[in-house]
Amino acid sequence: MRRLRVFSFVFGALAGAVTGKGRRKRIVAEGSTSPGAELALVGLLLLSAIFSVGFVVVLATGSWPMRTQYEGIALGGSLLLMGLALVLLSKRLIVTEELEEDYPEPEHPIEQGEVAQIVRESGSRFTRKRLVQGAAAAAAGALGVAAIAPAISFGPAFDPFELNWTPWRRGKRLLSEDGAPIKASDIEMETFYTAYPEHSARDNIAAPVVIIRLQPSALRLPRSRRNWAPQGILAYSKICTHAGCAIALYRKPTFPPTQPEPALVCPCHYSTFDPARAGKVLFGPAGRNLPQLPLMIDSAGHLRAAGNFSGPVGPSWWGVRMKGPITQDR
Ligand code: FES
Repeated sequence: MRRLRVFSFVFGALAGAVTGKGRRKRIVAEGSTSPGAELALVGLLLLSAIFSVGFVVVLATGSWPMRTQYEGIALGGSLLLMGLALVLLSKRLIVTEELEEDYPEPEHPIEQGEVAQIVRESGSRFTRKRLVQGAAAAAAGALGVAAIAPAISFGPAFDPFELNWTPWRRGKRLLSEDGAPIKASDIEMETFYTAYPEHSARDNIAAPVVIIRLQPSALRLPRSRRNWAPQGILAYSKICTHAGCAIALYRKPTFPPTQPEPALVCPCHYSTFDPARAGKVLFGPAGRNLPQLPLMIDSAGHLRAAGNFSGPVGPSWWGVRMKGPITQDR
């Protein structure tokens, strides 16, 4: 019997929802509508959604000039438009009521229902409710995606290519900090040089390399790299594989029989790399060897890259050991 009652209640509710039968009569007269304000609201919400999507697109598509500024304009524009939409909604489309006294506590469920109905009907000024709801859902959804998109970009989810790309390839000359091509004869023993690839931007993380010269007999490079250091000249990425600081120190033994071998040292946390042993980590928190750039000397005596780095450049992000540097242009 109880089941039958529940069934007839549910069925009656569903039938009422479909046919509209059983709806209460309005208590409050239809509020005045404002179709212009509604359209403006929809426009602001859709524009806000477009700006949010624009933010995600700029974030995802990588290396534009002034990318940060575009991201700021897109996200700021989206929030501004959303704010304007909310102001418009509250000023023009939501009924407001001022009460001098608190509502009395409803004493009966029917009264309670009537108060709820009054509130509901007082707020219904929309003529295109579905359109407004759709625009609001689009704006809120796009803004939500824009809010979480930067968290996704902490890792290489969007553009792993960017993290592995380097401007080095076979034949590129090495330029000094003044932009002059470096000759092998310019590189002296016990001196530390910084070089960049010709015809490439210097602000790419993989652009700067350090160059040093060691005695060829002191080199302990793997067999596959035996031609990478002509005349004992070696080049390594200048970016530390721990957290990305610049390798800015060169340890040179003043008393070779008693002091440790030459080493490249990162000043941030003192990771120390052995240039004679393919950039091997000797000390410190770095988890990977320093990537080595193979070198060759052209007929004019200039230093040129003989290929790309031996491994990924820069800090060790998740999965970096599985990937190699990318040579081809975008
Ligand atoms: S960044 Fe180089 S040791 Fe930490």
